[in-house]
Amino acid sequence: MIERKQWLAYLEKNLSSKRYRHTLGCAKLAKELAKIYHADLDKADAAALLHDVAKEMSLADMQSVVLHSGTQVANYVAGNATLLHAYASAALAQSQFGVEDQEILDAILYHTTGRKNMSLLEKIIFIADAAEENRTYHPQIKQWRQEAKEDLDSAVLKVLEYNIIRVVQRGFILDENTVSARNDLVMRDGR
Ligand SMILES: [Fe+2]
Ligand SMILES: [Fe+2]
Repeated sequence: MIERKQWLAYLEKNLSSKRYRHTLGCAKLAKELAKIYHADLDKADAAALLHDVAKEMSLADMQSVVLHSGTQVANYVAGNATLLHAYASAALAQSQFGVEDQEILDAILYHTTGRKNMSLLEKIIFIADAAEENRTYHPQIKQWRQEAKEDLDSAVLKVLEYNIIRVVQRGFILDENTVSARNDLVMRDGR
């Protein structure tokens, strides 16, 4: 299904070296987690490789890609590159890379925010993005990565809660999917 070699060539050419390294780190962790949790390795690889494919586009280009894909997004998402890049990456995955598998597209779509009732692949890509080996934004990343290998839900919950606090502290818009994802996991946890 995936033309890995061509995809890597495209990514290396079109992403900054930092983003490219992050993408490779994300794919590595996603495949490790997919092995542990018996998820589809190829889908994990594909979603990880393309999750940030549109991340470095201008906001206007992201908006145009999303508009052409026909996906409806809320106004607060359409005006916010941090949120919109996930929609734009999913749209490009479909239009430029021929990905039609909805599980892969959803894992790309929700890699930043999570959502209620996340699939296994969505959780894997969410954590692979947040805690791959090149990430340095938080002292606990290594622990999150380790925890994800033992208890995926618990690691996802920790990252969601960290993201909620960070977004609120910075005064950014908090996507409602993140709140739903967090509350859903807390309820399942029986807290
Ligand atoms: Fe991203
Ligand atoms: Fe990412």
